[in-house]
Amino acid sequence: MKMFESIKDQVKNAKKIVFVTGAGISQESGIPTFRGKDGLWRNYDAMKLATIDAFYDDPKLVWEWYNERRHNIFSANPNQGHKAIAELEKFADVVSLTQNIDGLHQKAGSTKVLELHGSIVKIKCTVCDFSDEIMTDFTENPPLCKCGSILRPDVVWFGESLPQDVWQEAIIHANQCDLMIIVGTSLVVSPANTLPIYAKQNNAMLIEINPENTEMSSEMDLVIRNTSANALPEFVSLFKNL
Ligand code: APR
Ligand code: ZN
Repeated sequence: MKMFESIKDQVKNAKKIVFVTGAGISQESGIPTFRGKDGLWRNYDAMKLATIDAFYDDPKLVWEWYNERRHNIFSANPNQGHKAIAELEKFADVVSLTQNIDGLHQKAGSTKVLELHGSIVKIKCTVCDFSDEIMTDFTENPPLCKCGSILRPDVVWFGESLPQDVWQEAIIHANQCDLMIIVGTSLVVSPANTLPIYAKQNNAMLIEINPENTEMSSEMDLVIRNTSANALPEFVSLFKNL
């Protein structure tokens, strides 16, 4: 438990722990990050695949890409990082604010997860208010709603605002936490990258778990340059030995 030795005392008094997670926590589950070495945005043009204009320009191409990601994500399993966060619920009030659309926190057993950027399981109509959750393959591309309009993935694309109810709730959790652990995110995308600021307003301790530097590393109280699957089980074992 060497990684967290210096904060052992503060940790044991933490009542509310909030995790802010990104693509890095799912990297060890075989899901590529966006901006890392083999990141999606190195191989694909985000502006051609993850904007509403791109979708209307070529819905077939965007759906081909999301169907590929759905396949990859549906066959992926939570890793030790996801499982550790789920296990921590035994010892403290734990909330995960995730930018990930893969549902692996919930698959690991976490009960309090806010999906800031939507979910790859969810779809919605581009015209009527139809929405649904679908794990099976679509028979047509692009898939059509019963109203005849095109269905889209219910995820947040660049230039789109987050689901406001989810975002408002995320700010409340960030503002109330004693400890915020920022795992596997580059913190380049807003407004998710403002969550540590809300936590700091509540004098929360900020911990970063990431093999690489991020936009806010210098503002952290503790930086762990390691992977989430290595570091998080060690963090949880702190609580087991209290
Ligand atoms: N454990 C911990 N961190 C890791 C690991 C790992 N095994 N592997 C990579 N990382 C770190 C990288 O160093 C990087 O800082 O995870 C971070 C991933 O950053 P991004 O690829 O930028 O992903 P993320 O921060 O989640 O992106 C935010 O941008 O593309 C949009 O909507 C998309 O939700 C996404 C948002
Ligand atoms: Zn419709």
